[in-house]
Amino acid sequence: MTYTPSTILFGGDYNPDQWDAATVSEDIELMKRAQVNTATIGVFSWSKMEPREGVYELDWLADVLDRLHAGGIGFFLATPTASPPPWFTVAYPDAMPVRSDGTRLSHGSRDTYAVSAPAYRAASRGIARALAERFGGHPGLRGWHIHNEYGTLDYGPHAALAFRAWLRAKYGTLEALNAAWWTAFWSQGYGSWDEILPPRDTQYLHNPAQAIDFRRFSSDEMLAAYTEQFDEIRASGSMAPATTNFMLPTWNHLEQWAWSDAQDVVSIDHYLDSRGPDGDTHVAYGGDLTRSWGGGPWLLMEQNATGISADGRWYTKSSDRTIRNSLGYIARGSQSSLFFQWRQSAGGSEQWHGGLVPHAGGSSRAFATIERLGGILNSIREVVEPPADGRLSDAEVGILWHADGWWALETPQMPNDALTYSDEVRSTHRALWRAGIETDFVRPGAPVDRYRVLVVPCLYPMSEATAAWLSDYASAGGTVVVSYLSGVSDESLQIIGGGFPGRLRDLLGIMSEQIDVLAPHETVDLGEGLAGTEWTERVNLLTAEALHVYQEGSFAGLPAITSNVAGAGRAIYVSTKLDQSSRDRFFADIAVQAGLTETVPGAVSAGVEAVRRRGRDADYLFLLHHGDAPIIVDGEGVDLVSREVSSGLTVEAGETAVIRVDRGHTVRIRLDGA
Ligand code: GLA
Repeated sequence: MTYTPSTILFGGDYNPDQWDAATVSEDIELMKRAQVNTATIGVFSWSKMEPREGVYELDWLADVLDRLHAGGIGFFLATPTASPPPWFTVAYPDAMPVRSDGTRLSHGSRDTYAVSAPAYRAASRGIARALAERFGGHPGLRGWHIHNEYGTLDYGPHAALAFRAWLRAKYGTLEALNAAWWTAFWSQGYGSWDEILPPRDTQYLHNPAQAIDFRRFSSDEMLAAYTEQFDEIRASGSMAPATTNFMLPTWNHLEQWAWSDAQDVVSIDHYLDSRGPDGDTHVAYGGDLTRSWGGGPWLLMEQNATGISADGRWYTKSSDRTIRNSLGYIARGSQSSLFFQWRQSAGGSEQWHGGLVPHAGGSSRAFATIERLGGILNSIREVVEPPADGRLSDAEVGILWHADGWWALETPQMPNDALTYSDEVRSTHRALWRAGIETDFVRPGAPVDRYRVLVVPCLYPMSEATAAWLSDYASAGGTVVVSYLSGVSDESLQIIGGGFPGRLRDLLGIMSEQIDVLAPHETVDLGEGLAGTEWTERVNLLTAEALHVYQEGSFAGLPAITSNVAGAGRAIYVSTKLDQSSRDRFFADIAVQAGLTETVPGAVSAGVEAVRRRGRDADYLFLLHHGDAPIIVDGEGVDLVSREVSSGLTVEAGETAVIRVDRGHTVRIRLDGA
């Protein structure tokens, strides 16, 4: 589904149940002043919506929704199931989640529920149905926000039952499960389904196949809970689009491709994880992932209102940065700029978390930024109209993404526990970003003919089908770049024998027979200015040639990076973890060799992030100026922010421009005075 609202959705989580009537009135006035058009209501309001079991008290909500609507503000209505009320916990203690160490959690926070517990599922269906029946036809309803950030893992008895049922459906017989899990080792052979447990704390290491199956099961189980609520909403007759907000991975409990299939529009919450310029690459990473998951326009459901929380500290975002980052998501396909939360809480657990209306109130400088942002979003609103083919990006590089890679590398006592999937993927994306090259993320098996380069970072388990698909892609003329720890095992994390990477030896034309892990901070020289870290391999060339050779270390004189002719294309193997600056150079070279150029010539060297968003009748070049000197933009187009013709337009450091250009046309950037 292509989600096209009438304008860019602007606003955020609104929790009016915290406030008195006068504050709510002031809120609506302030929303109008800032041109806010969307509020997300009810995310954690279950105890107020259903104060006693089966007693739904929704008049207060009707009143707020009506008042918002009368003020011209639409809403996403949330089902509040991420936070069951205390009465529920007391009545159904078995519906509280159990940690892997056996501790059953109590209420007092949020996200405390056992997703497989029948009582929790029934109560969730009940509140979803009650809300849908009452508000499903409300004229202000923009869509359903089901639950919030699914992600509580449960290891308790209900989970055990559901896990066994999932395993039966997957494996059919215990024999197949025992074989897939390699249970002959350490006397783990199962003689009955009832003997199988979630990976609860045990004396030593878990069985890795059991652990990854539990992650897959948990994702499916949460998706089943989502779908039940969705079905209740549809059964009530409400056809408004539905979504749940994924938490963009810093932790990862969902298999996002399957989840995205079940969304009317994919939405995420995204919180920057660093204060410095790397936050800008993080925005791009989040935006590209989410656009790719849903294959089209998406919603930024939450971002941080005023600051960045990193390393246990709270940093304030500048006004320019708030605007640049907000437009950064829109450049990459977001139809919204929504925040957590509208008004900063006076009490409760997140009282220091930012709000669009800060503690100081609506006369503050922080709120002036929000008003400024509202004006800009209004002036660029035409970008929400997608092109007829629905494709928002012209990216010609794809990065393979799958949660299996993430979960596999979480297995304890891998040869190097410092290696994580997310770091490898993000470092790769960052390198391409720094080269000004736009990227998509790709689902294994998806159509890939539009990509000139396909990168495979640390996809450790790999099916035969995925390997064949990569091979077909290369044969047809594509360039595949595969990192260490990809294609090493089958889907059950069993290592494929005969040399690494078992699934991809033929495609890569190499056989790697041994690994050697580096010490923390140790680097290995790969020649021509490149350096590897963390991981090295003894690579034998079969049909490939060496592009870089280890200059030192255990494998001195042997290939480190190789290239193999594969049909009309080629397959490159990188047997070590490139440090970031080496990676930047390496991918910039790959881009040049593949004939890729930066989106807007001159942008990278001027410190400008340039992103092309394809629109209905034109393309939009988002110029996000992260640099520190004014730039001049030359070319034919209109800047929707300043309404100036772009030829000769000056964009000051820190500011943004959104230039409408004819399809396929571009502009040039030069530094002021150059
Ligand atoms: C999440 C939640 C919000 C809020 C923010 C704060 O994304 O959805 O309710 O807790 O984090 O960072």
